[in-house]
Amino acid sequence: MLAVITGASSGLGVVFARKLAARGYDLLLIARREDRLQSIAREIAEQYHARAEILVADLTDDATLAAVAARIRDAADLGLLVNNAGFGTLGYFFDADPDVQAKMHRLHVLATMRLSHAALANLVPRAMAGSGIINVSSVAAFAPSPQSVSYGATKTWMNRFTEGLAIELAVKSSPVTVQALCPGFILTEFHDAAGLDRSVIPASLWMTADFVVEESLRSFDRRSLFVVPGWRYKLLVWMLRLLPGGLIRWGSIRAAQRYKRPKG
Ligand SMILES: NC(=O)c1ccc[n+]([C@@H]2O[C@H](COP(=O)([O-])OP(=O)(O)OC[C@H]3O[C@@H](n4cnc5c(N)ncnc54)[C@H](OP(=O)(O)O)[C@@H]3O)[C@@H](O)[C@H]2O)c1
Repeated sequence: MLAVITGASSGLGVVFARKLAARGYDLLLIARREDRLQSIAREIAEQYHARAEILVADLTDDATLAAVAARIRDAADLGLLVNNAGFGTLGYFFDADPDVQAKMHRLHVLATMRLSHAALANLVPRAMAGSGIINVSSVAAFAPSPQSVSYGATKTWMNRFTEGLAIELAVKSSPVTVQALCPGFILTEFHDAAGLDRSVIPASLWMTADFVVEESLRSFDRRSLFVVPGWRYKLLVWMLRLLPGGLIRWGSIRAAQRYKRPKG
């Protein structure tokens, strides 16, 4: 069975690749950095004896995205799609480069929508138990995210989109599973790219990519829709669901005022 992983050149994507190869999947690894993809594919082939193909693609490019979608729709052995590619930015939306914000929407929203459509067009008629899609969202989906507005908004979209798909699949009694994975802070390259100073985040809030992916795959087997790894974040999401919106907005303003961006 084939697992397609976007954003497979670092962080969560690499760990998904290792763990899915260990579960017996062949892999299609997608990202922009060819050298990284090649070295991960080599590692997968050597250590897990799985077939690991790479596809160098910028998923914010329309033509490239259409080609990747066609590849997923036509893969006869498709079992799993992990929509994992993503990035964050830090700073007020009105100060941000709108082209970068548009790219984020393209990657988190349009690419997820297109590739999910291609995967479901393939998987639903085959009605294979254990097949499906993991959409890598974020705990940021559950609350407003000042200085990271597009990020929070696109991840909120991802949660609602995945929930809608789950309902449609249930209506059709389809065995195909969809998951919105909603982690908090994970030790990956994500924060370097976003320019976030890791030292301002309490140590207890950091998780490893290994822990997060293990939780995701274990929950996928149980067909859980929303997966929030770690008890601290489970508690946070539970509270956010109970608290009035006004109080959450007040807390968000205070937290954003306390955060000082690193110099340089
Ligand atoms: N780290 C966290 O704290 C955290 C928390 C919650 C959710 N997440 C989510 O987890 C997912 C994975 O992030 P990560 O933490 O593993 O960060 P990461 O190490 O920076 O990985 C991001 C991946 O996305 C790929 N990517 C970025 N832009 C792309 C594009 N235009 N086309 C194709 N691939 C692209 C990158 O590959 P190339 O640069 O080679 O293209 C890389 O493989 C993201 O969706 C992120 O929002 C992360």
